[in-house]
Amino acid sequence: MIIDPATTPRGELHSLMIRCIAPRPIAWVSTMSRDGITNLAPFSYFNGVSSDPPALLFVASRHDTGHKKDTLLNIEATGHFVVNVVPESLAEAMNITATEYPHGVSEFEKAGLTPAPAERVSAPRLKESPVHFECELYETMHVGVDGAGGGTIVVGRIVLIHIDDSILKDGKVDYELYHPIGRLGGMEYTRTRDRFTMVRKKYTPGM
Ligand SMILES: Cc1cc2nc3c(=O)[nH]c(=O)nc-3n(C[C@H](O)[C@H](O)[C@H](O)COP(=O)(O)O)c2cc1C
Repeated sequence: MIIDPATTPRGELHSLMIRCIAPRPIAWVSTMSRDGITNLAPFSYFNGVSSDPPALLFVASRHDTGHKKDTLLNIEATGHFVVNVVPESLAEAMNITATEYPHGVSEFEKAGLTPAPAERVSAPRLKESPVHFECELYETMHVGVDGAGGGTIVVGRIVLIHIDDSILKDGKVDYELYHPIGRLGGMEYTRTRDRFTMVRKKYTPGM
């Protein structure tokens, strides 16, 4: 199958892309509006960017109406956000927070989750998540149309990292204790319980 984006509807392209770009980690982004309303939503166009300074990115696409998502509006207003991870045990709660509630409704309350104060940013952390990255806005870059289909890359400088001791073994994050989920296409997700190890080869002349 060959797909030409020029003749393929936007919705179909989105479905195809998320099916093929998989699995994707999930940034569970918590923010607070200027008037103190907390917000929590998952974003799976998410990854790390650099380690000096430590930075990560996620992409907030526009609503189908063309409007900006509350997460992006809050970050633009305050310059702060926290990326929390999604352990398998919180998958259902994460799904509730993806509901497009009207502006002003806190997904923390709807999903029965607890906001905890962050130390360096005004956005709250998600108490129930075992990893939190406190971030200051580094840069945004909008890609595409100024409406449905367009996406804004949000780059955050990580100013503090919290890791719960419960997922550590010998001072390292241990995958027997830490079970983040990943997003696939459609409504599917993946676990991290089936893993394998490969040692990377070092180049030597004549190889
Ligand atoms: C697992 C998962 C991953 C998602 N990834 C993204 C994403 O990468 N970008 C995006 O704009 N929306 C994504 N969404 C949809 C948003 O979470 C949803 O639009 C949410 O209501 C936005 O909330 P807000 O308006 O409070 O910011 C995802 C939803 C789920 C369930």
